[in-house]
Formats: sequence, structure tokens, C-alpha cells
Amino acid sequence: MARGLLFFLLLSSIMSTNYACNETQRSSLLSFALTLSSPSLNWTSIDCCHWEGITCDHDGWVTDLDLPSRSGLNLNGGIFPSLENLTHLSLLNLSHNSLYGSLEPRFFLSLNCLEILDLSYNRLFGELPLFIPSSTRIVDLSNNNFHGAIPSSFFRRARNLTSFNVKNNTFSGSIPSSICLHSSPLIRLLDFSINKFSGNISGGLGKCSKLQVFRAGYNRLSGPLPEDIYNATTLEEISLPSNALHGDISDEIVNLTNLTILELYANQFSGMLPMNMGKLSKLKLILLHFNNLTGSLPPSLLNCTNLRELNLGFNHFVGKLSILDFSKLSRLTKLDFMSNQFTGVFPTSLYSCKSLKALRLSLNDLDGQIRPEILSLKSLSFLSLSASRLSNITRVLNILMGCKSLKVLILSNNFIGEEMPNGDGIVGVDGFQNLGILSFRGCQLTGPFPVWLSKIKKLEVLDLSSNRFTDSVPTWLGNFRSLFHINLGNNRISGELPKQLCKLPMLVSEQTAAQVDHTYLQLPFFVKPASDADFLQYSSLSFFPPAIHLHKNSIRGNIPTEISQLVLLHTLNLDDNNFSGNIPDKISNLKKLETLDLSMNHLSGEIPPSLMSLNFLSFLNVSYNNLEGPIPKGTQLQSFDVSAFEGNPKLCGAPLRNVCPLMHRNSQDMENEPQLSLVHTSVVLGFIVGLGGFCGPLMLKKTWRDAYFQFLNNVQDRLCVMKKVRA
Ligand SMILES: *[C@@H]1O[C@H](CO)[C@@H](O)[C@H](O)[C@H]1NC(C)=O
Ligand SMILES: *[C@@H]1O[C@H](CO)[C@@H](O)[C@H](O)[C@H]1NC(C)=O
Ligand SMILES: *[C@@H]1O[C@H](CO)[C@@H](O)[C@H](O)[C@H]1NC(C)=O
Ligand SMILES: *[C@@H]1O[C@H](CO)[C@@H](O)[C@H](O)[C@H]1NC(C)=O
Ligand SMILES: *[C@@H]1O[C@H](CO)[C@@H](O)[C@H](O)[C@H]1NC(C)=O
Ligand SMILES: *[C@@H]1O[C@H](CO)[C@@H](O)[C@H](O)[C@H]1NC(C)=O
Ligand SMILES: *[C@@H]1O[C@H](CO)[C@@H](O)[C@H](O)[C@H]1NC(C)=O
Ligand SMILES: *[C@@H]1O[C@H](CO)[C@@H](O)[C@H](O)[C@H]1NC(C)=O
Ligand SMILES: *[C@@H]1O[C@H](CO)[C@@H](O)[C@H](O)[C@H]1NC(C)=O
Ligand SMILES: *[C@@H]1O[C@H](CO)[C@@H](O)[C@H](O)[C@H]1NC(C)=O
Ligand SMILES: *[C@@H]1O[C@H](CO)[C@@H](O)[C@H](O)[C@H]1NC(C)=O
Ligand SMILES: *[C@@H]1O[C@H](CO)[C@@H](O)[C@H](O)[C@H]1NC(C)=O
Repeated sequence: MARGLLFFLLLSSIMSTNYACNETQRSSLLSFALTLSSPSLNWTSIDCCHWEGITCDHDGWVTDLDLPSRSGLNLNGGIFPSLENLTHLSLLNLSHNSLYGSLEPRFFLSLNCLEILDLSYNRLFGELPLFIPSSTRIVDLSNNNFHGAIPSSFFRRARNLTSFNVKNNTFSGSIPSSICLHSSPLIRLLDFSINKFSGNISGGLGKCSKLQVFRAGYNRLSGPLPEDIYNATTLEEISLPSNALHGDISDEIVNLTNLTILELYANQFSGMLPMNMGKLSKLKLILLHFNNLTGSLPPSLLNCTNLRELNLGFNHFVGKLSILDFSKLSRLTKLDFMSNQFTGVFPTSLYSCKSLKALRLSLNDLDGQIRPEILSLKSLSFLSLSASRLSNITRVLNILMGCKSLKVLILSNNFIGEEMPNGDGIVGVDGFQNLGILSFRGCQLTGPFPVWLSKIKKLEVLDLSSNRFTDSVPTWLGNFRSLFHINLGNNRISGELPKQLCKLPMLVSEQTAAQVDHTYLQLPFFVKPASDADFLQYSSLSFFPPAIHLHKNSIRGNIPTEISQLVLLHTLNLDDNNFSGNIPDKISNLKKLETLDLSMNHLSGEIPPSLMSLNFLSFLNVSYNNLEGPIPKGTQLQSFDVSAFEGNPKLCGAPLRNVCPLMHRNSQDMENEPQLSLVHTSVVLGFIVGLGGFCGPLMLKKTWRDAYFQFLNNVQDRLCVMKKVRA
């Protein structure tokens, strides 16, 4: 391929006699083309000024090299030196290719006219050169693998720089916030997001008289906001989420009159919100969740008529919500106050926020009652009012089933001890017609398993755990086309496990499962796996694990062998029931299984050796059954704790202490050691891969956080953090 090209180039240079483009320019371009391992360029005609992506000036100097989005344009080696003689180049746009290589130290030495440099979305690596030319106005190096600190000399000559974007690389060191002091006073956009920048944000931004956008989220920045940031009055966006910033948000923020986006979530900001914040009438997005903010909401905030999203969740705000007047926020689409200490009744003025799509007041100290006016919120698709002292479930269902757009309904820990209405007619034909996620977890509802649920055809996630439902698992559960996550744990369910449940299309067929909704939820969905556990957060339904939880009930009989059809299941919890018989050998068909809990039943027989083929299994518990015989050897089963097997007196072999009779184990154990550690890493790997977009431990482990970003392709998903929250 390359040789053919070379031949062609020779041929065309022999033929060339009269052309507009200067010979040096032409040969530079051709040598650039030669460094591409897969040129798909139609650079064949004689006049290089007419080549695709090339623009020249009157004298035949190349000024623009504009070849974005040519995937397959693979550069091997550096971009320099092939471009060194294009001394009049003013625009270089090679974004969205798969260029691979580094910028050599002398990259910019001869490009003295360069104004626009866009190398974003490639696979470039290495450190930045020492400086950019004085002519540069726009630099976009985002979405590459550059690393190292940004050299202090980098901007020194660039007085005309207006935009500098290095988002999504692995840069380290401090962010060059003094950029306006000595070098580039005209800067409008600075984007340092998603890197490894650390340390304080030092002063200097106040001298940026044009700065509109300042982003440095998802780094390791610490310390307070610099005092003089409030002097940068042209600012329209401050976006610093997911760092370790602390201190107050100063009252002087009201000087930033053009501010539209304030994104400071997942930091450690404390203190009260500025009293006059409402003077910032252009504010559209206020995202301050996961901080340590306190005090009551400044009433002026509700004067921000342009607000689209207000997220104050997971802070320590107090005060009566009912006295706040939300009625001016006619453009508000998302309101999230989850996990604060607000009191009072459900604010009726919220019913005038006609644009609301998502509303979450969960985990406050509210006395919430829902009124029929909620039906006027025609776009409402996400409603979460956990632990809000709601009562009269019949009434609430009657009202809410008319919310045509409702997709997510989370009413956990309400209606304590009420009886769940159970008539077939509770929900009409078109009631809850779009509902996908429904949770009544922890309501201690009584009565038989509600049969009206069978009418909610689009159900995907159903959580009825920790109630007192009786009867057996209904066979019609198996008819749901979209259901893939069922939690009926901790109820009073009896009877046998119906085989029909093993036919759930979403758990049986890859093809059906591929239809799961991959879009982002209006708000991320939080799940607390146990009362002392941290919240897990899911921003899309497609990240949610396919699961069946039936633990802590009185289900009896065998585990049906048909269970082996649920090949897409990640979690199967049957613990603390009355299951008997063997563990079906075919359970090993559930290749995606990560969690398998069969403990505290009456299971007997041996542990099927086929279990060892479950490569993703990271949690196993078969304790307190009547299992017997050896634990299959030389597999990851040995890597589980003793507690996974105890309480089965006739079970033997590692990791249990009791030795199996008639086994020559010592030499074998030695052989198995390396293999075991291999298996171990594959377990860990499997765990990470299997968890997909789940982003629980982001704050704890940065490597996981980095891995997460491979799943994050939508910046809309602004929140991916987990914090320890009071129970
Ligand atoms: C091409 O550029 C070189 C300098 O690189 C210059 O010496 C030469 O005169 C130019 N030729 C034409 C035809 O403009
Ligand atoms: C290559 O470009 C020339 C004009 O510069 C054009 O005539 C020709 O059709 C193009 N070839 C392809 C394969 O696009
Ligand atoms: C580079 O080209 C892409 C694709 O046409 C465009 O979106 C981008 O704005 C260009 N970069 C600059 C800095 O103009
Ligand atoms: C650039 O020009 C110099 C001097 O004319 C020449 O030696 C060098 O090979 C050229 N570089 C490229 C990449 O064309
Ligand atoms: C900076 O921009 C101004 C105005 O556009 C221009 O006159 C000047 O030449 C530029 N400076 C450099 C070093 O390119
Ligand atoms: C980061 O850049 C890489 C490489 O261009 C891209 O694949 C990935 O989607 C980007 N991640 C984010 C969060 O933008
Ligand atoms: C902000 O600007 C004012 C006047 O322009 C100046 O007096 C003050 O020192 C500046 N504040 C900071 C922290 O730089
Ligand atoms: C904010 O504005 C007030 C009044 O206009 C002024 O006194 C104060 O210095 C300003 N603060 C900053 C940081 O610019
Ligand atoms: C705020 O924005 C308006 C309109 O874009 C602009 O005219 C004004 O100069 C800006 N104010 C400041 C302080 O930058
Ligand atoms: C959060 O604020 C409380 C007081 O409201 C304080 O005790 C605690 O240390 C703060 N936590 C952090 C991480 O700043
Ligand atoms: C809200 O705005 C109105 C007029 O725009 C003003 O009269 C009122 O004082 C403001 N309320 C607060 C709490 O700032
Ligand atoms: C619940 O609400 C309904 C009206 O929807 C009412 O008839 C019923 O009496 C209420 N039940 C209780 C216990 O308050």
C-alpha cells in the first residue's frame, strides 16, 4: 500500500510542471501523507492547493490543513517533523481521527502563524511542548492520552489565546490558573476536566476579563475556591464537580451576574448558600449535591426564573419546604433535594412548575401528601418520595396512576403497615402505562401479592422487598416482556418457585435484553443494598444488574432446573427460605452470575463441580444447608471465605478445615497455587467488567473511576459518586 503510494507520488512529481502550490509545501504534505499508515486521502492531483482538506493563500502557501473525522487516518510517529515546512499554516484540524504518536518538543517551532489547533479525539500521548506560538487563538487537545504537567512557559507567548481545552487526558500538576496574569488575558474558555490535576486553584482568574467558561471537574483539586474568582465577572459557567474542594461559596458570587451554570457537586463545600444568590437571574443549572452545605434555602433562590435544574441532594439543608414558593420556576425540569433535613408538608407550589420531569424529595423529614394537582405536571416521569410519611396507599395509587409520563416511581418507606389494595380493578387499563421502575421497598405493606401489578406491562424493575406480602410468587411475573430486576426479598411469600419465572424474556434472550433502555434516567437511581451499606447509583437502566432476590421468605420445594434458562442473570438470592433438594447442576449455565446466595435453606447433596465454570462469580454463599462431600477443588471456590460454606457438617475440603477422607492433597495443593492466583485475578476482573456502569466505589478507588469513564459517553450524566450517607 505505502509502496504503491510512493510510486504514485514519484510519478506525479515527475509529471508536475506548473501548479499553484509551492514545491516545499507539496513535499511537506506528501511526507505527512507518508506517515499515515492508512491514507485514505485523494491527494493525487498536481496542484496541492486543491487537495482535500487543503487551503492555500495567494502565494501558494498552505494555510489550512483541515481533515477532521477521517477515522482510519492513522498517524504513526509524530505529527512533526512532517509539518515543519508548512510555515504559513494557520489552521490545523485533525480532530476525531485515530492519530497515534506524540508532539515532539519542537512541534510549534516553525508554525509561527498557527491560530487554530484542534487535535481532539485522537490517541496522542506524551507531554506538551514548551510553548505554543504567539499567534495561537484556539487549542483543543481534549480526549487524548497526553500526560505530565502543563509547562509554566506554555502560554507565555500566546497573548491572543481565547480557548484552551485539555479535557479527558491524564495531565497532572496544578492547573495554570494564573494564565491571565502574564500571558493570555483574552481567554474565554478553559477546560481542564477529567484529568489528574491536583493542589489548590491559585489566584489569577480574577484578571481574566473575558473568561466565560471555567471547567476543571473530575480532578484531584483541593482547597477553597480562589478569592478572586468572583472578580471574573464575565463568567457564565463554573464547573468543578468531583474534586476535594472545600470552604464556603462566598456572597460575592452575586457579582458574577452572567452566571448560568454552577456545578460544584461531589466536593466538600460547607456553610450556607449566599443570601442573594437569587440575584443571579440567568442561572439555569445549580448542581451542588454531595457537599456539606447547611442552613435554609435563601428565598431569593426561587426568583431564579430561568432555572432548569436544581440539585441540592445529599447535603445538610434544613427548613420548612412548605413555606417556599416554587411557583415562579416555570422552566424547572429537575428538582432533587434527596437526603437533607427539610421539614414540613409537600410544597403545593411545586404543582405550578409545569415543566417538571423529575422530582425527588426522598430522605428528608417531610410529611408528604400527594394531591391530585400533581396530574397537572404532564411531563413528570421521575418521582421519588421515599421516607416522606405518605399514607393511604389506595389514594396515592389512585392519583398517580393517571400520571401518563411516569416512568420511575419510588415510594419506599412510606405507608408503614397499611394494607396493599389488591383488586384487579385497582389500576385501570391505561393506568401506569409507562411505568418501568416501581419500588415499595420497606413499607411493611400487608396482604396478598398485589395482582393489579400484572397490568403494568412495561415494568422493568420491581422492588417490593421488606413488606409482608403473603401467597406464592405469582406465575404471571414470567409474562413481563421487559422485567429484568425483581426484588421480593424479606416478605412472607410461600409456595414453590414457579417455573414460569424462569422464562422472563429479558433474562433468557440476549436479543430481548439488548432492547433495554440505554438512555440516561432523568436523575440517577440510588439503591442501598443493605441498611449499613453505601448507596449505589445507577444513571441508566442498562447499568442495573439483572437480578432475582427472593431471600427471607418461606419458599419451599426444589430449585427448579429450569432456572438454568436465566442465562443473563447477574444476581440470584434465594437465601433464608425452605428450599430443599440438590443444587441443580445446570445452574452453571448462568455464566454471567456474580452473586449466588443459597444459604440458610435445606439443600442437600454435593456442590456441583460445574459451579467452577462461573468465572464472574464474586460472591457465593451456600452456608447452613445440608450439603455434603468435597468442595470442588482447584477452583475459585477456594478463594471464598470459610463463612460461605460453614454450617454444612458433611461438607469438606478447603477452605473448610475438615479434611475430606481418602484424598492425597499436599502435593496437589502445591501445584494448584499459581493456578489459583490466576483464577483470583480473573475473579476480580470479572467483577469489574460485570459491574458495567455501576459507579459505587468511585470515591474510594480512583482506578475504578477511570475505568468508569469508558462507560460515560454522555456528559449529561453529571453525577457519578457515592458517599457514605447517614442511614
Ligand atoms: C517556495 O518556497 C521557498 C521557500 O520555502 C521559496 O524559496 C521559493 O521561492 C518558493 N517557490 C515559489 C514558486 O513560490
Ligand atoms: C480525487 O480528486 C479529484 C479532483 O481533485 C477528482 O476528480 C477524483 O474524482 C477524486 N477521486 C476520488 C476517488 O474521489
Ligand atoms: C474541527 O473540525 C470539526 C469537525 O468539522 C469541528 O467540529 C471543529 O469545530 C473544528 N475545530 C475547530 C477548533 O474549529
Ligand atoms: C523542510 O525543508 C528543509 C529545507 O528545505 C528540508 O531539508 C526538509 O527535508 C523539509 N522537510 C520536510 C518534512 O519536507
Ligand atoms: C493578535 O490579534 C490581533 C488582533 O486580531 C492581531 O493584530 C495580532 O497580530 C495578533 N497577535 C499575534 C501575535 O498574532
Ligand atoms: C475520553 O477520550 C477517549 C479517547 O478519545 C474517548 O474514547 C472517551 O469516550 C472519552 N471519555 C469521556 C468521558 O469523554
Ligand atoms: C477584585 O477587583 C477589585 C477591583 O477591581 C480589586 O480591588 C480587588 O482587589 C480584586 N479582588 C481580588 C481578590 O483580586
Ligand atoms: C462585588 O461587587 C461589590 C459591589 O459592586 C464590590 O464592592 C465588591 O468588591 C465586588 N467583589 C469582587 C470580588 O469583585
Ligand atoms: C453579560 O452578558 C451580556 C450578554 O451576553 C453582555 O452584553 C455583558 O457584557 C455581560 N456582562 C459581563 C459582566 O460580562
Ligand atoms: C460537615 O459539616 C459538619 C457540620 O455541619 C462537620 O461536623 C463535618 O466535619 C463536615 N464534614 C466535612 C467532610 O467537611
Ligand atoms: C424576587 O423578585 C422580586 C421582583 O423581581 C422582588 O420584589 C423580591 O424582593 C425578590 N425576592 C427575593 C426574596 O429576593
Ligand atoms: C384513603 O383515601 C380514600 C380516597 O381515595 C378514602 O376513601 C379512604 O377513606 C382513605 N382511607 C383512609 C384510611 O384514610
